[in-house]
Amino acid sequence: MSRTVAISSPQPSGTGAGREALRRWFRPRRDAYPWRGSSDPFAILVSEVMLQQTQASRVAPAYRAFLERFPTIRALARAPRPEVIRAWSGLGYNRRAVTLSEAARSLVRDHDGRIPRKPATLERLPGIGPYTAAAVASLAFGVPVAAVDTNVRRVIARVHLGLEPHEAAASEIATFAHAWLDRRDPGAWNSALMDLGREVCRPRPRCEACPLARGCHFRAAGATGGRGPARQGRFEGSTRQVRGAVVRVLRARGTISLGRLSDEIGLPEDRITPALAGLMADGLVAGGPAARQGRPSGRVRLAG
Ligand code: ADE
Repeated sequence: MSRTVAISSPQPSGTGAGREALRRWFRPRRDAYPWRGSSDPFAILVSEVMLQQTQASRVAPAYRAFLERFPTIRALARAPRPEVIRAWSGLGYNRRAVTLSEAARSLVRDHDGRIPRKPATLERLPGIGPYTAAAVASLAFGVPVAAVDTNVRRVIARVHLGLEPHEAAASEIATFAHAWLDRRDPGAWNSALMDLGREVCRPRPRCEACPLARGCHFRAAGATGGRGPARQGRFEGSTRQVRGAVVRVLRARGTISLGRLSDEIGLPEDRITPALAGLMADGLVAGGPAARQGRPSGRVRLAG
């Protein structure tokens, strides 16, 4: 039997459009990552903080190891900061280890060691922005709130507005995200859109693999993607790279002199001190007794 599929103009963009197709597409992916099998709000919080700036494929092994080391909020809250920073190994953007440790301490102090379900309350925790708060609330508690990260913003702008995300007003994207949300299972819906944005509706989209292609205004307009503002800057030689190298050496060596640190990293001290000053301001690194006015000098170590 042959079937004709109209792809030249999208179906009316009711916000129910494509829901069933996306649900079907997502079904085999429900268990694609270890955190998807968990209903423990703490495990979901840990995974979402890790996923903020690290690719899902790299998060998976670190997530398992982290939860083995700190299985509960109270275990994390009790742990000395350098241990938490050590357990963050392999994920980068180590400042998140500090804020997650602060969040756990604040949850024990102010919320009896429980994760709140309201996004507005979650947002008051260190390191938790609107996106992570919405992801945790919807995935852990089924709260009907849209979690809109960069990838999801791209899907919504394209499907509903026929635009690239930088061409669309934030308020319009938020309106569609809210109206489109599948209230029967907000967590699965949010996860499905995240996966779709990361794997299919990429900057250069793979429309042939997209369950929403039929109703997509971007595709109907013949747009092919790939435009948009410049991506993240070069990593090689950046302060971010030096920061990562400093934390790696301090994890392995404990307290160390500036000269020794410079030898181990293979960069002159004047390249290392700006990165160290930033790490000290972020609470990741502490100076030795000779540190003055927040400037690194003498010996340095991971902050406790
Ligand atoms: N990116 C951020 N959170 C995610 C999640 N829960 N699943 C997949 N990708 C994500």
